[in-house]
Amino acid sequence: MPERLRLGVNIDHVATIRNARGGLHPDPLRAALLAAAAGADGITAHLREDRRHISDDDIAALSEKIALPLNLEMAATDEMLQIALRHRPHAACIVPEKRNEVTTEGGLDAAAQMNSLRRFVDELGMAEIRVSLFVDAEGRQLEAAKRLGAPVVELHTGAYCEAWIEHGPEAEQTLAELERLRSGAAMAEELGLECHAGHGLTFDTVPPIAAIPNVVELNIGHYLVGEAIFSGLDSAIKRMRAVMDKARAEALGPRTA
Ligand code: PXP
Repeated sequence: MPERLRLGVNIDHVATIRNARGGLHPDPLRAALLAAAAGADGITAHLREDRRHISDDDIAALSEKIALPLNLEMAATDEMLQIALRHRPHAACIVPEKRNEVTTEGGLDAAAQMNSLRRFVDELGMAEIRVSLFVDAEGRQLEAAKRLGAPVVELHTGAYCEAWIEHGPEAEQTLAELERLRSGAAMAEELGLECHAGHGLTFDTVPPIAAIPNVVELNIGHYLVGEAIFSGLDSAIKRMRAVMDKARAEALGPRTA
């Protein structure tokens, strides 16, 4: 029986709300503990260079106090490398970072930055941190990840989600983006890379991604924190889990005993 599709809950935007007023509430650690109880398989947090949401203290608290695997999203900078080596999270996902962007706009150009990325992948790997590269679903990026020795890639689902919202689920643009993700995930598996996906996923956009058999983990944040305003974080996470599990089960089809 294949392992269930894992859900990594990204808690960055709990910190965004806290930071809107300074102070301590709402606490990302409390959200992480609640996410674990609601069925998350991992916690993801992005320590940005400008510390706009997650702080150094949050990473320290999460590293110390959660039982679930922590996935630290980080830019390939010496500062972030030192922080990762200090806290030794289960995984580190290297993401591109621009100071002025609202969110991570596209995948890492691993193919163009092979030389500068190699040191980060090597040092994190030597510290037994599972390295993942956040890339667009393009053959040359997946090949670069393989050549760099990263064991995991996370496919950026932002373009698919944007097409879905702008043009609808059946539109040519949406289906083309979905197909790109499907082939990317299949190619990742052929290359021996573990394949994750995330960015912009919602209850509506997640089923086709959860149905891609080569994807083993989804990382979802902003939508869950937004939904938590209406239904509570526990309920939002449980519903996301149920939607993902249903889509994956339907994709696998009926199984014989
Ligand atoms: N995966 C990666 C690598 C990300 O950078 C982000 C955003 O921080 C996510 C997943 C989650 O995206 P969202 O918050 O849109 O669900």
